[in-house]
Amino acid sequence: MGHSVQHVLVTGGAGFIGSNFVRYLLRRGVPRVTAYDKLTYAGNRASLADVEDHPGFRFIHADICERADVAAALRGCDAVVNFAAETHVDRSLLDADDFLRTNVVGTHVLLEQARRLGVRRFVHVSTDEVYGDVPEGYSRETDPLRPRSPYSASKAAGEMMVLAAVASYGVPAVITRGSNTYGPYQYPEKFIPLMITNALEGRPLPVYGDGRQMRDWIHVEDHCAGIEVALLRGVPGEAYNIGGGHPRENLSVVREILQILGLSEDLIQHVSDRPGHDRRYALATDKLRALGWRPTIDFPRGLRETVEWYRRRRDWWEPLRDAAFAEYYGRNYGGRAVLKGPEHG
Ligand code: NAD
Ligand code: DAU
Repeated sequence: MGHSVQHVLVTGGAGFIGSNFVRYLLRRGVPRVTAYDKLTYAGNRASLADVEDHPGFRFIHADICERADVAAALRGCDAVVNFAAETHVDRSLLDADDFLRTNVVGTHVLLEQARRLGVRRFVHVSTDEVYGDVPEGYSRETDPLRPRSPYSASKAAGEMMVLAAVASYGVPAVITRGSNTYGPYQYPEKFIPLMITNALEGRPLPVYGDGRQMRDWIHVEDHCAGIEVALLRGVPGEAYNIGGGHPRENLSVVREILQILGLSEDLIQHVSDRPGHDRRYALATDKLRALGWRPTIDFPRGLRETVEWYRRRRDWWEPLRDAAFAEYYGRNYGGRAVLKGPEHG
């Protein structure tokens, strides 16, 4: 099948959505896809194992903040999709330095080199978190950005650099703002894979506060399809929301996971809340739908398949729950009061 882009540089291509996007593009018939990744704690070559032998695939181990590495990687590419980022809100609350470096400076370096080399298309992958807490209604792309965590502030700052590059130099960049994404190859610090893998290990499931916070879940395949549409048909300088349309309270997601696994709700442990925790995100998605995209995977099915995937792929996630993971786990969860539920684990 022909594809109108020929060679895509996927930064953050060894991360959760990036590795799924590499697979997605190759399946869609893009002849050449280069994954570019620093391999931080969240990057994992094993997530690309099934495409390593594909003749159109190449991997570059490098940092998006390094100008010369970015320039070398970009030669011959007609498009860039920037997934590379520090992505975990809880880690940004412990230390935000790397968030500013990668999410802001790294984005700037990529934009500069894309400008210099005349890259034809640039998608900057951002997040619904830039809108901040949305107690009611749905965020539109024209709404003001009101980020409230160091992570979301760094993502909003990255977006500003994108808009500046479009306006100042005509870099053909679009922004996507995706909602909470789930599916295979997600690092087990994030909510859904953490709950699944803790449950599979018989450990308590730490729910922040009352667990009534609302997220709009989207399956990673639907998120990838939305990014492809923005890549092919997005207008430079515009942002596009990519929301799954499956709002759920956290507690009800945990209950669904336990139900699929046939485990008791006694594993649920309410712990003290994330500081500044946004209660709700919700996206209006008509702008991207008008370009021909819509999500296709309903949440109960997507969640069941994801739980099955983690059940089958212990070979992928068990090595990730290593000493460094335990150290992070201790820092993030160790000091939290247990509000309700099992005390130890
Ligand atoms: P992830 O943490 O799984 O992956 C991030 C990847 O970026 C990792 O492979 C990491 O090694 C790499 N990376 C980090 N710093 C780098 C650097 N300086 N240079 C090169 N590579 C670097 O994240 P994810 O969940 O796949 O998110 C991907 C993108 O999508 C991010 O920009 C994130 O903000 C955005 N996003 C994520 C979600 C979600 O729910 N997961 C939703 C909306 C938007
Ligand atoms: O909304 C898009 C964003 O979704 C992305 O931009 C981020 O990169 C991604 O990490 C995600 O951010 P969240 O903060 O929403 O995701 P997280 O998986 O950390 O948490 C989801 C919800 O679950 C949130 O309300 C916090 C809660 N939670 C999370 C963890 C890790 C818990 O209750 N307990 C936990 O242990």
